[in-house]
Amino acid sequence: MGAQASPVDEAMTKAGCMACHAMDKKVLGPSFKDVAAKYKGQDVAAKLMEKVRKGGSGVFGPIPMAPNPPEKINDADLKAAVELILKS
Ligand code: HEC
Repeated sequence: MGAQASPVDEAMTKAGCMACHAMDKKVLGPSFKDVAAKYKGQDVAAKLMEKVRKGGSGVFGPIPMAPNPPEKINDADLKAAVELILKS
């Protein structure tokens, strides 16, 4: 990722993702690098979009991710966010 804030970064910041996530260190949730490493080479964008929407736990540990409804992040931004995370 470049140093400049992209529209996707802005959408994720607005949606509150960055309160629990960071690019390369664990906060409350896993770092996006860890997520990308876990799913490297797998076609999981749709699955992860649903997980972020609904929230849930058990993949990286017992701490649950809260649901992220469309009022927080719309489908287009969520898709862009997941694609960005998987490339990080
Ligand atoms: C309240 C804190 C919190 C917020 C807000 C949050 N997350 Fe998470 N996220 C987590 C936790 C905790 C996990 C680990 C869940 C697990 O272990 O199953 C996680 C996991 C994930 C995963 C991996 C899911 C999996 O099943 O492998 C992705 C992708 C993700 N978050 C993206 C996002 C995005 C995008 C947003 C903003 C729209 C967001 N998160 C907002 C806490 C949060």
